[in-house]
Amino acid sequence: MKRDLISVLDIKDDLKEIIDLAIAMKGEHKEGMDIVPFKGMTLVMIFEKPSLRTRVSFEVGFDQMGGTALYLSPGEIQIGKRESVHDVAKVLSRFADMIMYRAFDSENVRELAKHADVPVINGLDNMEHPCQAVADFMTMTKVKGDLKGRTLAWVGDGNNVLHSLLLGGAILGMNVRAACPEGYRPDPGILETAIKIAEENGSKISITSDPVEAVNEADVVYADTFISMGDEAEKEERLKAFAGYQVNMELFSKAKPDAIFMHCLPAHRGEEVTDDVMDSPRSVVFQEAENRMHAQKAIMIRLAGLR
Ligand code: CP
Ligand code: NVA
Repeated sequence: MKRDLISVLDIKDDLKEIIDLAIAMKGEHKEGMDIVPFKGMTLVMIFEKPSLRTRVSFEVGFDQMGGTALYLSPGEIQIGKRESVHDVAKVLSRFADMIMYRAFDSENVRELAKHADVPVINGLDNMEHPCQAVADFMTMTKVKGDLKGRTLAWVGDGNNVLHSLLLGGAILGMNVRAACPEGYRPDPGILETAIKIAEENGSKISITSDPVEAVNEADVVYADTFISMGDEAEKEERLKAFAGYQVNMELFSKAKPDAIFMHCLPAHRGEEVTDDVMDSPRSVVFQEAENRMHAQKAIMIRLAGLR
């Protein structure tokens, strides 16, 4: 049976293996020992939203593994409008060996995966950003070693990236503390699932409105934009709601002295994070971006059942 990655929950049983594989494949790549299992194969990438990292990392990564990646830009196929999700899935399955989909609506990603005959990878939707989370846990593992018992502090919006980090953190036995204003808290269903998984793994998930409480003695401090793609119309009210949720040096200094700063990027310097934190020696944001490619290469190998 083919395997998809829509939610981090889809890789619950082998998240750790995928992280280890990504680290191994990064090492192999640096030594010029890339494997090329996708020779003659095609990855079709559907984008309903802009992208720098996701597009480039998938395209370059698939190319390194011998395949060809095809980019479909926002508005190009108008999935669900010009043509049903079902029919797009069936048609693309005749051309592509794998599909990556960045969508507004997670229901469309699930629908595409349901009807496609090839693996579908979620390249970010309104609910999750699983590839980001795998790259993030890979980065944390590279810097901090075993993540069990470590504390990840999130400051900002209860959004797609946080959802994937909550689930992944719980699976890996990390404590995840998120500071989000009232009205911008994570999805209750995802939160409940993460809390349950964390309990099984001896860790703790908590939500607060106080950024200092979340960051206090944390190993990792994580920020993301206050205004996700699709939320632009709410810019004014969001900037008001998130006043006090900026990761600046004062807030970052509440974390452990060797804590690292992470951000999925794109960053809005001066909004959710200050320049001195972004550019600090303890910021790993560009290593994190680089790891997107290695993480996704491991994800694709794993979904294809190759390693
Ligand atoms: N972090 C991330 O997914 O970046 P892009 O939106 O540029 O792909
Ligand atoms: N939460 C952000 C992440 C961008 C990579 C968004 O959805 O726009």
